[in-house]
Amino acid sequence: MAFEPIFQPLKFRNLTVKNRIFRSNVAGRFDNYDGSGSQTRINWEVKFAKGGVGAIISSFVPVHLRGRIVPNYAMIDHDRHIPFWRAVGNAVHEYDCRFILQLSHGGRQRDIQGIEYPTGLSSTSKPDPSHGFQCEAMTVDQIRATVDAFAEGARRAREAGLDGVELHGANGYLITQFLSSAINDRKDEYGGSLENRARFVLEVVRGIRKKVGDDFHLQMKISVQENCDAVSFFNIGPSGNTAAESAQVCKWLVEAGVDAIHASTGGFFPHPQNPAGSDLPVDQLVKTYDTMISSGDGAFRNYLMFRTTPDLVRREWQKTVPKPEEIEGLNLPDARRVKEAVSVPVICTGGFQTASFITAALERGDCDAVSIARPLIANNDLVEIFRRGQDRADRPCTYCNKCLVNVVENPLGCYEEARYPSREAMIAEIMSVFTPPQFH
Ligand SMILES: Cc1cc2nc3c(=O)[nH]c(=O)nc-3n(C[C@H](O)[C@H](O)[C@H](O)COP(=O)(O)O)c2cc1C
Ligand code: SF4
Repeated sequence: MAFEPIFQPLKFRNLTVKNRIFRSNVAGRFDNYDGSGSQTRINWEVKFAKGGVGAIISSFVPVHLRGRIVPNYAMIDHDRHIPFWRAVGNAVHEYDCRFILQLSHGGRQRDIQGIEYPTGLSSTSKPDPSHGFQCEAMTVDQIRATVDAFAEGARRAREAGLDGVELHGANGYLITQFLSSAINDRKDEYGGSLENRARFVLEVVRGIRKKVGDDFHLQMKISVQENCDAVSFFNIGPSGNTAAESAQVCKWLVEAGVDAIHASTGGFFPHPQNPAGSDLPVDQLVKTYDTMISSGDGAFRNYLMFRTTPDLVRREWQKTVPKPEEIEGLNLPDARRVKEAVSVPVICTGGFQTASFITAALERGDCDAVSIARPLIANNDLVEIFRRGQDRADRPCTYCNKCLVNVVENPLGCYEEARYPSREAMIAEIMSVFTPPQFH
């Protein structure tokens, strides 16, 4: 068979996945304001299971209301959500696809405030520099309660019959806010040295293991390099953790009971390198960013900047974006660095959409599997395309990031009109996620 390494099963300590392609996390506002799930989310996940991915890693699932980044995300903060997640798991299992739920907490990094709470919780009391969301530094009691919220989330995922959980330790959210030397300014035992900054996540891992035992899959997504200084107008500060520091954190994570590492990049989100784009579509961004301007103290400033100096914003953003031909596999060197440090499988995210390229990365041993977000949004059946021996989809993802800038306001889907025969065809494809209509 062509591209055989892609179709080899991958064995983790507690889980076997039928091939080496994972659907990466993609958050869309598919659910209800109160955190209950919808049929739309099930329809969305089934698209990828049908298309042949070995496993789906869910989108951002808040473990606590104060960790929610946008309303309308299904949550895992209460036992009443277990039946919904069971329905999601059952639906994708029908296609022999595994489901890993991403246990998440946004900390100070959020998109739309919602009505339930004004300030986030973080390692720091400095507001998020991208949008200016206010936050407070967590007390030790709040840290303990949050560790417990993660552990309870894992227990619920297990009770729902899901195949594992992933800690969202990447992209600038709460766990990154503790790990990061650029963000964490604490003076207690949770700040300062790398060991202290890693204390929170290691307590989360131990808390989960205590609650779910040793035989349930647990992986961690981490931004191997943070590059927090990549965009001058967000002024997040120094660069943050290096690959060497993250490799050390991964070693500790594995010692504490983590079964796999998912290698990502960037100390905030979105970041010029994550998801790395061929361009920043400021013209589309300005149409949806208005949804956010009443939320964070910096969002109105950003909106004016996007409206009045779009070219400047694009130029600044693009300064550290890789060249288009370098987007596919941009995190492979970081994944390799982590792989050299740990004994567990490493999944790599970032730009993958060519079967021969993925095959070569697997054969070199840069990573054990790849996770794909945008190219699977563009072609839900990419794995089936590879299985037929085709190296790339006929209409590949262009990395235009229009899906990303639409998602705070509009349904998640591929918004690259050039990929469709017409605008009507694009809208029909995006809206297809609402069929069938109801979750019972
Ligand atoms: C619309 C959108 C939503 C995303 N949501 C999440 C998320 O909820 N959790 C997460 O860890 N990463 C999220 N990501 C990042 C992706 O999982 C992925 O790591 C990144 O886009 C790079 O992969 P790609 O080049 O295949 O898109 C999101 C990306 C996009 C484009
Ligand atoms: S809008 Fe479509 S083509 Fe553009 S990055 Fe998203 S999935 Fe890819």
